[in-house]
Amino acid sequence: MIQEKPSPAFATEEWLQWDERHVWHPFTQAGTAPPVTPIVAARGASLYGPEGQSYLDLISSWWVITHGHGHPRIALALAQQAMILEQVVFAGFTHPPAAQLAAKLVARLPEGLSRLFFSDNGSTAVEVALKMARQYWYNQGKRKERFLAFQGGYHGDTVGAMSVGGSSGFFEPFRSLLFPVDWVPFPATWQGDAQVDGKEREALHALDRYLSEHGSSCAACLMEPLVQGAAGMRMCRPQFVQQVAERLRAAGVLLIFDEVMTGFGRTGTLFACQRAATTPDIICLSKGLTGGFLPMSVTVCREEIYQAFVGDSFDRAFAHGHSFTANPLGCAAALVALALFEEENTLPRIAQLEAIHQARVTALADHPRVRYPRVVGSIAALDIVADDAGYASRIGLFLRKFFLERGFLLRPLGNALYLLPPYCISDSELHQAWDCVAEALHQLPPVTASEMNGQPV
Ligand SMILES: Cc1ncc(COP(=O)(O)O)c(C=O)c1O
Repeated sequence: MIQEKPSPAFATEEWLQWDERHVWHPFTQAGTAPPVTPIVAARGASLYGPEGQSYLDLISSWWVITHGHGHPRIALALAQQAMILEQVVFAGFTHPPAAQLAAKLVARLPEGLSRLFFSDNGSTAVEVALKMARQYWYNQGKRKERFLAFQGGYHGDTVGAMSVGGSSGFFEPFRSLLFPVDWVPFPATWQGDAQVDGKEREALHALDRYLSEHGSSCAACLMEPLVQGAAGMRMCRPQFVQQVAERLRAAGVLLIFDEVMTGFGRTGTLFACQRAATTPDIICLSKGLTGGFLPMSVTVCREEIYQAFVGDSFDRAFAHGHSFTANPLGCAAALVALALFEEENTLPRIAQLEAIHQARVTALADHPRVRYPRVVGSIAALDIVADDAGYASRIGLFLRKFFLERGFLLRPLGNALYLLPPYCISDSELHQAWDCVAEALHQLPPVTASEMNGQPV
């Protein structure tokens, strides 16, 4: 709980008017959206409004907060770093927080992922990975130019990231801008899914067919391992990830893991690739990297990939960089956020959150409006039967309002309801959230009988 109530220098109504007149909010249809919710402070698992209203943050503020809002250790490290070195160009220069963070991250990643490129956010981490993969082959004189991805995957909103996420359904106006990408099915599964073996077999057949036809011209395959986030927290089994990796390796296609969402503990291990026991060639990390304090990302690759860029001509170099590459403040925050996993015993705590999720999801699984209950690590999700399933489902809007009015920040992806809390959430807070989900299920607007037969996840 915040001890002192923050006292902004101006009235809430005044700054809310500035917002209404001048601010364009992300992923929002301003024509129909309810008024924005003002937040002036945050601590632990809670956000606070100007009148002291509190909201339990069950989506970790778009999946970025790991140890909790306003963690004092991270805040202090940031303040201290700001007094020492706030920013320096990273081409031709370096600084202690960046070098230390690179070494510490590499030590925690699966063996072999040893060379780290900094950028600004999840989308740029993906852009970097795609360009890295493409130029890796180009520098060796090989024409491997295609990209493969999984249906439904989402990888960010820049043009390359939209291209590989082009089957997510978010990017219609930009279709002609996107480069061609090939897709294979993602065998989404859930508790008690009797068809999972068949779905995986089909997906692997599709992958085999693709690789035998196009493997020699494919640069890389991009995957969100274990959980497709924005697609509605669609989950797959570790053995599927392993089988995909084996096939790609045999076909000489690089495997890129987009762990922008799954990284930093979400799936129960520090990185989802560890739970999936699979090492990719390139991994993209962001969101939880700084504990949610600052935007920053890294793309980490195998040394062999890096060596393909080393030579005596600039043409071979990776001509990519952002103004704030390896910002020292972000690195300082990330160093503490990483250390806290040990110091606060975070992974065992995530296992406890997973057990609570499992118990509560199982208790709701037989509810007539619930489909596809699923849990991995700190993420729990279920689909709600709706007559307009998908991201724009009215059920999602109904639920957002329902939860917010009761002090819970839950933001379903259409009719896919999920909980992805910061790891500092207490057992009782998490149970309160699940109690509210159970209450919401009883108050849902009705659907037609035919919808009750279920929709594909
Ligand atoms: C898997 C994945 N990749 C990439 C991104 C894009 O990250 P950012 O919003 O930081 O650009 C996201 C964002 O949600 C994501 O979930």
